[in-house]
Formats: sequence, C-alpha cells, structure tokens
Amino acid sequence: MPLLATRPRHLRALVLGDLALDVALAPSRPLQRGTDVPGAVRLHQGGSAANTARWLARLGTRTTLVCAVGRDGAGRALVAALRADGVLVRAVRPAGAPTARIGMLVDPATGERSFVADRGAADLLRPADLVAPLFVVDGKGRPEPIASMPGVSRLCIRDLVRECRALRKLGILAVALFPRIDPRLKDGEGSAALREDALVLRAVRAVKKAVPGLTVMTDIALDPYTAHGHDGVLTADGSDVDNDRTVGILASMAVLHAHAGVDLVAPSDMMDGRIGAIRRALDAAGREDTGIIAYTAKYASAYYGPFRDAVGSAKSAGTRSLDKRTYQLNPANRREAYTELKLDEAEGADIVMVKPAGLYLDIIRGLRFSTRKPIAAYQVSGEYSQIHAAARMGWLDLGDCRRESLIAIKRAGADMILTYFARDMAAELGA
Ligand code: PBG
Repeated sequence: MPLLATRPRHLRALVLGDLALDVALAPSRPLQRGTDVPGAVRLHQGGSAANTARWLARLGTRTTLVCAVGRDGAGRALVAALRADGVLVRAVRPAGAPTARIGMLVDPATGERSFVADRGAADLLRPADLVAPLFVVDGKGRPEPIASMPGVSRLCIRDLVRECRALRKLGILAVALFPRIDPRLKDGEGSAALREDALVLRAVRAVKKAVPGLTVMTDIALDPYTAHGHDGVLTADGSDVDNDRTVGILASMAVLHAHAGVDLVAPSDMMDGRIGAIRRALDAAGREDTGIIAYTAKYASAYYGPFRDAVGSAKSAGTRSLDKRTYQLNPANRREAYTELKLDEAEGADIVMVKPAGLYLDIIRGLRFSTRKPIAAYQVSGEYSQIHAAARMGWLDLGDCRRESLIAIKRAGADMILTYFARDMAAELGA
C-alpha cells in the first residue's frame, strides 16, 4: 500500500481481470487495451469489493470505474457493492471476456503494477507456465521415492518417458532432467559428465523421440558427477573450485547435450564466464538453435538440501549442506543479481533464472524491470518439501499453499516456474 500513500496523484488506473495475464506475461507492455474512458479507472470483475472500495476511497471520488463482467457474471456483485459505496461504475461486458478475477493497481507514470486481489488464481497460472524437474536413474527398476520430497521419485528411462507423456497431456510444455548416476562413476573430475553414453543423454534421446513436442532442458554443472559434490573441479589444493577449467568442461558438456537433442541447456554451476563459453562452443558445433537458460541469480541457499538427496550428490560430513558460497550468490546481496544479469545477457543467455523463487521474489521483481528476456524462477526442493512437511503435520493445507506459493512467484514477474508441484498443479488447473 505504500505505493498509494506516497504517490496518490499518479494512480488512476485500476485494472482487474483479463489484462492480468498480459501484464503477468509482459509487464513492460504499455496498457492500451481498456483505457477507453480517459482518466478512468478500469476494473474488470473481481477482487473483494471491500478491498477495492478501500483503494478507491484513497484515489478520490472522481474516479470512474469501468467494470467488465466476465462470462460467469460474478463481477456483478462487485459492481453493485461499489455503486452502493457511491463509486461511479460503468459496467461493460467485453466480447469473450474470460472469467477474470485478478485485480491490480497500475501506476501510469512508472507502469508499476501491484495486485490488489488474488482471487481467481486459475486465471493467472497456466499449466504452460510450469516446468517439471524430473530425476532419472539407470536400469529398469521401479520408481525410487525420495524420502525428503513426498510425491517425487527417481525414474528409470522407461518410466520417465511415460511421465513426460502424462505431463504433456496435462498441458506442461517443458521438463528439466536431472540424473542420479551410479556413485562408482563419480570422481574428483566429474569425468562421467563427458561420457557419450551418459545416463542423462540416453534419457534426453528417449524423451525427445517419444514426446517430440516437449521442450527438454538439462542441467549443466558437475555436481551429480563429482565425488566431492561441488559443481566444478577443484583447484590443486582443493580449497575452491577451479573456475576456468570448469568452464571448459561445462562447454563440452553442453555440446554433448545439444547433440543429444536438448532444447535448452541450463548452466546451474555459477562459474564466471560460462554462458559466453557455452554459447561459443554450441555455435562452433553447429548448434546455434540450442538455447541457454542461465541460472543467473542462484543463491547459496539452504533450501537445496532435499535435491542433493535426490541426485545423491555429496554433502559435507554431518548434516550441514555443502558450502557453495564461493560461487553462488550471498542471500543478503540483491545488487549482485543485476551484475549477473548484465553479464549473462551480454554473454548470450536466452532465458534468465532466479533460484530459489519464493524467498527471492524481490529479485524476480527487480529483474523483471531490468530485462526483456524471459524470466524463469525455480521453486526449489526445500520450498516444496516444507509445504509437504507442514501439510503432513496438519498445519497447512497442501493444495492451498501449493497454489499460493506458485501464484506469488508468477505475480512477482516470472514467465515460467520450475516446480516439483508441476504435475499436481497442472492437474488442478486443467489443461
Ligand atoms: C546443481 C543444482 C542444484 C539444484 C539444481 N541444480 C543444487 C545445488 O546447487 O547444490 C537445486 C534444485 C533444488 O533444490 O530443487 N547445480
């Protein structure tokens, strides 16, 4: 609300409803559609009447509302309530108006939009916004449940393909594959990452063949392959990752993945200069069409714990998770995200990512106004597991928290969300 309180004169457009999707998908687009009454506040149906009236009271009484009533007519009650409050309302019913209930306040001076109501989640979130991370293992065994991630299992390639088909049917357009390799293949150099017969490459080929319409992305980092669990190879004294040597290995890895048919390589390693090196390597290998989804603002988070169980990557002794603070961002640092953004854009990233998502909404929001690239946000394993854990205790409602956590990420400005909830959320939304 401080937006209103500090700059009341600028705030004349209140937009609810069917513009919400446009706004969420392309927040920098000027608001043209819908300003058919000069100086008016445009209101599509929805929001809580009381809430809206409160905002309007602060805007001043000369404000006119243009209120679009959706197909289900649910906006009528709001119109009536506002009129009863003395607000000038013009009700319209645009052809084909969806049942839209998202409300937002738009500051015409800056284009800044803030939501005033979060009802009608289904209008904001679509299955196509969701990317499903999937874990793959060798062999033909049954799915291996991951204890710290209820509902998530490591799948053999055959089951993985089946899962991908099911996801595609639910309207999900992309998956991110993570291998858990045989621990005997791990070494200090992560050399298994460069094997032509690597598990993840076989998985990619199988998925692309069986479900060609599905976008496949793969992680480019060495942690599933190194005995020590770091994302890169270490310096001679073992005190840190060797940035430049790691970048060379990652570039070769990206080329292998591209040749296997990956659509987007996803460097999650956070080495400096790796986006440019990977882009050059892909181009030199004739894979100009392979895109890069860069983990741009990846924070050194404690919330990756369950993921490291899932891929079986090493942890330091005891329960404390591996310290990756020399290459992942400091959670206290916001500005560095912008530096990383500039670098990744200049080096050729096609999509930029913020990770984790829910604790870093300010970063998503900040980058949203700083780039025209699509923004991906990764709701990481710990974010997923904590909701499940609380739900198991009977302390939180699983479905409601799942929905709200994802809406918040979308609202902040993410164009796509990697989430272990992808399947369940898509099933709830309906394709
Ligand atoms: C590895 C990688 C990690 C995740 C994705 N890629 C873990 C890490 O950096 O230690 C975490 C995803 C999650 O927690 O869901 N480079």
